[in-house]
Amino acid sequence: MIKTNLNINDLDKNLLRDLDSYIESLEDPKGSLINVLHRAQMLFGYLPHNLQLYVSRKLDLNAAKVNGVVTFYSFFTEKKTGKYVVSVCMGTACYVKGSEKVLEKCLTLLDVEKNEITKDGLFSVKDVRCIGACGLAPVLSVGEKVYGHVSADMVEDILNKFRGDENDS
Ligand code: FES
Repeated sequence: MIKTNLNINDLDKNLLRDLDSYIESLEDPKGSLINVLHRAQMLFGYLPHNLQLYVSRKLDLNAAKVNGVVTFYSFFTEKKTGKYVVSVCMGTACYVKGSEKVLEKCLTLLDVEKNEITKDGLFSVKDVRCIGACGLAPVLSVGEKVYGHVSADMVEDILNKFRGDENDS
């Protein structure tokens, strides 16, 4: 539940300007809540409560409704994340095929708890509900990239790819 005494003045003004111009470019801003939240998360990296409140005022929507949408969809996050978000599916199909072991391996290798950011800021790990790729169970995604039939033994190589990308850049 969002408190309404949050301070929206703490939000980065330049990013808010970008978000405002996106909202103004929409034909039906009020009916485009999910798109607006996507843009907000892209700009800010996550959706803290004061940003959700800002969006609700801007679109003239109830703050509880906005928060309901943010918490319903697993691709939205209310917490600051690492540069790469590792999502391990815990839906039934993935769970019965061992996704818990995959999740544990991610947490052990990165030495973090769930939803915590690694010390280098590169990764955070979360569990998610079914992402609709049950035929590939167990499924893990890193950012937009989805990996299917993942076993705990494959996790290190997958994470190293992203570390490698980092060293290349
Ligand atoms: S249960 Fe994991 S993708 Fe559906």
